[in-house]
Amino acid sequence: MKIFIDTANVEDIKKANDMGVICGVTTNPSLIAREGRDFKEVVTEITTIVDGPISAEVVSLEADKMVEEALELVKIHKNIVIKLPMTIDGLKACNILTKKGIKTNVTLIFSANQALLAARAGATYVSPFAGRLDDIGVDGVALIKEISEIFKVHSIKTEIIAASVRNGLHVKECAKAGAHIATIPYGVIEKMTQHHLTDAGIERFLKDWEGFVNKK
Ligand code: E4P
Repeated sequence: MKIFIDTANVEDIKKANDMGVICGVTTNPSLIAREGRDFKEVVTEITTIVDGPISAEVVSLEADKMVEEALELVKIHKNIVIKLPMTIDGLKACNILTKKGIKTNVTLIFSANQALLAARAGATYVSPFAGRLDDIGVDGVALIKEISEIFKVHSIKTEIIAASVRNGLHVKECAKAGAHIATIPYGVIEKMTQHHLTDAGIERFLKDWEGFVNKK
């Protein structure tokens, strides 16, 4: 399973990119708004940091307006992927953009049938939201597994991005469930690096080394 970072914060993107663990970025209107910066300016800066798929989301609700927005966004960089909402208009826009050779990420997926429709409309990626399903007492990882099984049985090439990832357990379970990618907030990536036995191990190695050096 590949890892994308789910943020519009360029400092966090740089930190994750420097670790070499991410190969793409997903943003959404809430994440961009949180940065309080111009949309195009942020997305352009992100393209200079990560050389991989960068999802930028449209905010229109009508297909023709989504396509208009998308055609502007793809001018920013060749790596831009157009994020579209899982609606009838979103599917229409996905179909039009796919025929133009533009990559899409159909987002806000909460059922296997939504994922199947998005895939058939030509989506490059589908983004099922695991965490938001868990929030309402529905098993988010089970949805990822279900989509993964359907895509495998029908040889569907659309990639599954596990989204709305809240913790390390989500990441591990989404990987086991067959997600091609997990898009993860920086805080979760950072926590994934940590283990108290790693810290204790480093402490012990350094202590033993100091003892050895001081004996000489
Ligand atoms: C997906 O691409 C979304 O940006 C994101 O994962 C949403 O997560 P949230 O439920 O934590 O807002």
